[in-house]
Amino acid sequence: MREKHFLKKAAVLFLIFIFFSSSILPVLGVKYSSKNNKDNYPILIGQEFVLPPPQFIDIPLEESIMRRMSMRNFTEDPVTDEELSTILWSAYGKRDDGRYTVAKINGSHSVVIYVLLEDVYKYNPENHSLVFYKEGDYRDIVGWQYHAPVQLGLCWNTDIASANYASAECGAVGQNIYFAANSIGLGTVITAELEPAIEPVGLPDNEKGMGVMPLGHPVIDYNFVYRPIYISLLPRIKFSDMAFTTALEERIEISSWENDSISRDDLSHLIWASYGYSYYIDKSKSNVVKRHHTLPSAHGYYPFRIYTVTKYGISRYFYGLFNIDFIGLPIVSFILRTAFGDKRSEIAEATESFVGDAPICIIPVLSIEKTIEWDDLSNESVRWIWYYEAGAAAHNVLLQATSRGLTGNIVTIKDKDAVCAILKLEREKFDPMFVIPVG
Ligand SMILES: Cc1cc2nc3c(=O)[nH]c(=O)nc-3n(C[C@H](O)[C@H](O)[C@H](O)COP(=O)(O)O)c2cc1C
Repeated sequence: MREKHFLKKAAVLFLIFIFFSSSILPVLGVKYSSKNNKDNYPILIGQEFVLPPPQFIDIPLEESIMRRMSMRNFTEDPVTDEELSTILWSAYGKRDDGRYTVAKINGSHSVVIYVLLEDVYKYNPENHSLVFYKEGDYRDIVGWQYHAPVQLGLCWNTDIASANYASAECGAVGQNIYFAANSIGLGTVITAELEPAIEPVGLPDNEKGMGVMPLGHPVIDYNFVYRPIYISLLPRIKFSDMAFTTALEERIEISSWENDSISRDDLSHLIWASYGYSYYIDKSKSNVVKRHHTLPSAHGYYPFRIYTVTKYGISRYFYGLFNIDFIGLPIVSFILRTAFGDKRSEIAEATESFVGDAPICIIPVLSIEKTIEWDDLSNESVRWIWYYEAGAAAHNVLLQATSRGLTGNIVTIKDKDAVCAILKLEREKFDPMFVIPVG
């Protein structure tokens, strides 16, 4: 009788064991690639995998910006847990002080990152973990453009932000993914389509997809040659002592400044970061030699103008003119004064009063005519595409400000007509997107 009872108990325990080991564990964890597990990470807690600590990326901020470029072909080598952890924390991690690695846009954070591995996960910045979302390998469906071991879906919460501001925040997140990936030998590219490619995964009703970034080891090795723009009327960009990860950790936004002007050296670095060309020439492809911008652009249009407003007047940044060197690369950069006199208080009236106190305001302005070259992306309904780029430019300025010992902010524009009038631009042809005060 006792023996029968024991056998029954053992059978029940065995069934419980089979249930947990065969159905739950594989769904939650076993399929997650954990090559190079550091200290037994990722740790499984309920439905979450706590990622290993991110790697500190030690290269100077300016160098990580100069290395930015799109990569589209990836090997089958898996992305390790530590690499994925580093990319995700850089992208949208929460710092020790509770801030994210990107600034709020219009007062909020709305980005949600889906991480597509052999199953689908959501990144949880609160405890730097992956939360199981859905079983199934969607990588080649969502990431149909480029096959890669990881696909990152940049989405946003529609209860929190509008498409344009959410896209701008995605632009900042995307920059961090590029910078981190390019710096640790991985590759990525932002891809975006009018019908968000992430949709087959099935998002909650209050989320929408913006773009997808494949992530993996590039088939072609990076091959950069340091060659500054030949002729620049602006001080040369220098590598600072600030590591990329430190810039992510130390960036803050403020709304009052003590100084009334900044040096020409600072100005040069800030506007270069916003939209300039890298000093690195990319020779990774045998047949094309390229100088990349500090940020990506849909269709490679690069349709923005960058203006600066200081107490001396308004200037326009020419980031690269005359593609006349022996391989057709731009060779000249400078800023050109377009108006004299202090217009900062007028910019403040069109945005926020504190903007008037900043020594410099940087304004990315979309030139709508430049968005129709071979595919018309000028319609208001797709303006989010260009907000991505404006958000990327603004984020670059904030990081560059951090490494120069300065602080900035990203300010939305209440009266675009007024800003166009101050910059002497026709409103029908131009769309100023943010004002970035720095000091
Ligand atoms: C909003 C946005 C959408 C993009 N969509 C795609 C895309 O769907 N496919 C693609 O291959 N590249 C895409 N790109 C990347 C651009 O083609 C790339 O940034 C540009 O050609 C410049 O090259 P670089 O990033 O290597 O400097 C996109 C870029 C942006 C900013």
